[in-house]
Amino acid sequence: MTEKIIVIGANGQIGTELVNALRNIHGAEQVIASDINDPAYAIRNTGPFEFVNVLDKDNLHHIFQKHQPTQVYLLAAILSAVGEQRPKMAWDLNMTGLIHVLDFAVEFKVSKVFWPSSIAVFGPHSPQFNTPQYCVMDPNTVYGFSKLAGERWCEYYFNKHGLDVRSIRYPGLIGWRANPGGGTTDYAVHIFHEALKKGKYESFLSAETALPMMYMDDAIRATLDLMNAPAESLTIRSAYNLAGISFTPTQLAEEIKKIMPNFAISYAESDPRQAIADSWPKSIDDSYAQKDWGWKLEYDLPAITADMLTNLKKII
Ligand code: SER
Repeated sequence: MTEKIIVIGANGQIGTELVNALRNIHGAEQVIASDINDPAYAIRNTGPFEFVNVLDKDNLHHIFQKHQPTQVYLLAAILSAVGEQRPKMAWDLNMTGLIHVLDFAVEFKVSKVFWPSSIAVFGPHSPQFNTPQYCVMDPNTVYGFSKLAGERWCEYYFNKHGLDVRSIRYPGLIGWRANPGGGTTDYAVHIFHEALKKGKYESFLSAETALPMMYMDDAIRATLDLMNAPAESLTIRSAYNLAGISFTPTQLAEEIKKIMPNFAISYAESDPRQAIADSWPKSIDDSYAQKDWGWKLEYDLPAITADMLTNLKKII
C-alpha cells in the first residue's frame, strides 16, 4: 500500500528528524511536512510543505481533505518549561489540537495516527526508580497533565472508534539536527552546543539530577518500529514507557570531558525547571515495549556523546 503521511509540527526537534526518516522510506512526495511556522531548513527543499495550525479546524480539515493521508504524526505541542509560562495556551494547543486530529483521522479513515507522550505524565507520587507502565500518576505541570489526558483520549478513540492510535512516552531526547523547543531536558542538548562553542556550560539542572534520556536515532527507530508493529501485538493504546538511559548532568559532563578534556561545567543557583525535573522519574521500566514490539536500545551515554560531538562539530 502506498502511504500518504502528514507530519504536523514538522519543524520541531522530533519532526525535523522524522520527516527526514519517513521521506527516505516512503519517498519525498509521500510525506507532507506541516507546521505553523516557515519550514525549517532541514525540510524546506526535500518535499511538500503545508502551513497548518491545529487549532484552526477549517485549515486542518482542508489539509486532511486535500491530501487524504493514510498516516498522521501529530507532533505540535508546547513543552514543559514553556507550558508553565503559558499554561492555558499549552493546555489548549496540546489538548484541542489532539482532539481535532483524532476527529479528522476518524472522518477521513486514516489508517494509523502517532502522537507522542512523555515521561512528564508521571509526578511526585509515582515511583521514581524503574517507574512502571501502570502506577500512580499525578503530574504537576500543565504539559504533563495535558499528555496524560491526551493518552486517555488516544485510548478512548481506539476503543470507541477503532482508530489505530499509537504512542510512546519519550524520555528527554538528544539530537544534533534540530534544537529542543522549551523543555526541562533541553540541557542535555544545549551542553553539546556550548561545549563546542565555548568549552563550558552552565547547567540549569543541578549536578545530581538524574533523568531518563534517549538519543534521537533510537527515538526515531522506536517510533517507526511501533508504527510498523502488527496491531494485534500492541496491548497498550495509551502510550508505551520507553526507558532510554538515565544520567545526571555530572555524568554527561564527565563523558564530554573524555573527548574534550578542558570542558568545564557549572550549575545555576536556581531555575524553575529544577522543580519540574524533580517531579519526574529517574529511570523507567519499558518491559511492555520490549515484549510487545521487540524494543531494544542501541545508544548508551558514550555513544551519544561521541556522535553528538562529531556531527555538531560539522555544522556549528
Ligand atoms: N523533553 C520534554 C520536556 O522536557 C519532556 O517530554 O519538556
